[in-house]
Amino acid sequence: MLISSERIKDGIRKLGAKLTDLYAGKRIVVIPLLKGGFMFAADLVRFMDVDLQIEFLGASSYGEQTETSGEVRLTLDTALPLSGRHVLLVEDIIDTGLTLAYIQKLIKSRNPASLRTVVLLDKITGRKIDSEINECIFNIPDRFVFGYGLDSPGGFNRNLSDIVALKE
Ligand code: XMP
Ligand code: MG
Repeated sequence: MLISSERIKDGIRKLGAKLTDLYAGKRIVVIPLLKGGFMFAADLVRFMDVDLQIEFLGASSYGEQTETSGEVRLTLDTALPLSGRHVLLVEDIIDTGLTLAYIQKLIKSRNPASLRTVVLLDKITGRKIDSEINECIFNIPDRFVFGYGLDSPGGFNRNLSDIVALKE
């Protein structure tokens, strides 16, 4: 086990309070990046006292492998326009940065009033391109991890409460 559900919850509670302050008086759109970001986002919004709507974006770069293919595909697009809206993008994990860079570029092309990106996990040593992350809760080593929304090879185990690392 890498990160227990208790530590995850603590971290998310603090982030929720910080975002509540940052967005005081604003209406925002929260976008969980699917699939991995669904559980993090579901918990995070419950710790945010902010007027918010939810939209979804889906991205895929791994296929069934444990290493990124380097090719990002959009698997689901938002239903409502993002123009002029304050967007909070919620992602499970950043490694090379390719997925977030692709999605951030897409969102920015739609002229939101603002864009902020929060990630639960950061594999800092894996970065291949710069992408702006505003908040990250945990830095983790360069290991394949799953649980708490992230899948193991084959697509299972997203429903674990803890984050675990694959045996090397
Ligand atoms: P990049 O390299 O684009 O990777 O920054 C981010 C995306 O890749 C997935 N990812 C993982 N998924 N365990 C997973 O289950 C991992 O250790 C892992 N590392 C990266 C993730 O979907 C993220 O959106
Ligand atoms: Mg993902």
